[in-house]
Amino acid sequence: MEYFENFLWGAFPWLAIVAFFVGIFWRWRTDQFGWTTHSSQIYESKLLRMSSPLFHWGMVFVIVGHLMGLAIPKSWTRSVGISDHFYHLIATYPGALAAIATVLGLVGLIYRRVVNRSVFLATSRSDKVMYIFLGGAILSGTIATFSLQLFDTLGTNGYDYRETISPWLRNLLIFNIQPELMSDVPWQFKVHVLAGFTLIAVWPFTRLVHAFSAPVGYVTRPYVVYRSRDTRTTDMRSHVAWEPVQSAASQLDRNSERRGNSDRSRPPRSS
Ligand code: HEM
Repeated sequence: MEYFENFLWGAFPWLAIVAFFVGIFWRWRTDQFGWTTHSSQIYESKLLRMSSPLFHWGMVFVIVGHLMGLAIPKSWTRSVGISDHFYHLIATYPGALAAIATVLGLVGLIYRRVVNRSVFLATSRSDKVMYIFLGGAILSGTIATFSLQLFDTLGTNGYDYRETISPWLRNLLIFNIQPELMSDVPWQFKVHVLAGFTLIAVWPFTRLVHAFSAPVGYVTRPYVVYRSRDTRTTDMRSHVAWEPVQSAASQLDRNSERRGNSDRSRPPRSS
């Protein structure tokens, strides 16, 4: 039994972390063209427009909550005057709201894949496996938060995971493996932590890789410029068909330079 516990809370999370990084590297080297959301918006957009933001914004708050609860030790929040009870409240209620948004969004995304024939046909086997693991991690986290934190089924004013799961994880990541910290954790959280690490392991082999190429560049990149035919062009055609448009000014400079050159290379008109 002890051997099994050591495997679950020592070896398994590290196997998942290694699978994640090796998998990401392998996927990047072998499948850069497949590194996309594989968007199905072209087949159906009404349900997608509601479910996708609900899911993604829910997840943003869930991730922020995880970083706060797992990475920040209790002593730090106490030292800036945040009591344990107050911390529990700000973690539980916004966390529960984020969980509801995420679950509703996920249900919408899966419903649309099932009922819309075109979206269904565009759903690969890897997508189906991904939804099972993603759903497993999200549902188990939601069940743990609702049963233990919100409805207090243990009768302890919520389960204090910042005494067990959080130090276990921080120590695990610096190779100070302490499986005993996880031994008395309620089963709901044990299932959730295992489901979370399983999702991390399969992540690189699914469309979830798109999370690392979210289009943040859209904010700063230059506009996409569609050029109409230049009415001032002469019968001489440029030999370059495609040119990257850098900026309006440099483009104009280049055009006038080329026009000057072509004028020079043109034979003198006979009068
Ligand atoms: C990577 C996949 C994971 C997903 C998708 C996920 C998802 C969720 C969700 C939806 C909740 C409920 C909402 C919330 O309270 O934020 C939750 C709660 C929680 N999760 Fe995860 N989780 C993941 C991984 C992990 C891991 C690896 C751990 C620990 C090592 C963890 C620890 C927790 C804890 C302690 C809570 C309760 C937070 C609270 O009630 O304040 N999760 N998770």
